[in-house]
Amino acid sequence: MKTDLLIVNGPNLNMLGKRAPEIYGSDTLDDIQAACTELCDEMGLSLRWFQSNIEGEMVTAIQESAFDNSPHPARGLIINAAAYSHTSVALYDAVELFEGPSIEVHLSNTIARENFRHHSYMSLVCDGIIQGFSRDSYLLAIRGISEKLAVKR
Ligand code: DQA
Repeated sequence: MKTDLLIVNGPNLNMLGKRAPEIYGSDTLDDIQAACTELCDEMGLSLRWFQSNIEGEMVTAIQESAFDNSPHPARGLIINAAAYSHTSVALYDAVELFEGPSIEVHLSNTIARENFRHHSYMSLVCDGIIQGFSRDSYLLAIRGISEKLAVKR
């Protein structure tokens, strides 16, 4: 059975709530997961949620959902690769091989921050980017990707 959405979260996002709330908001990652689950339920979408601080584990999670005959196939991918957005060719390659549509999300507006956050490998390979809306970046991405998935139905 194919999952509609895989949401992948990268390093330090498990610290949300404690981590720089003036930048990232006061929601914990569990709060964000709960809001995403609620919206997916309303929209009739199934969701697989993943977080890791380890780059290779994120690559494996994407690989495992990349194709129809993968162990956990997913129709669409939403990724907040966190700091790995700015550094990881391995994640670029993993997202590139994912068959369905993909959206990059960030809680903060990375373009308004330090220079090293201005480049994202994810932006080069994802179909869309949503950033700067705190928790709502994820919810907007779910709405956006559902349109792309509906087109392919
Ligand atoms: C982030 C932005 C990244 O630059 C940063 O390293 C993060 C979080 C965001 O969601 O705003 O860890 O991806």
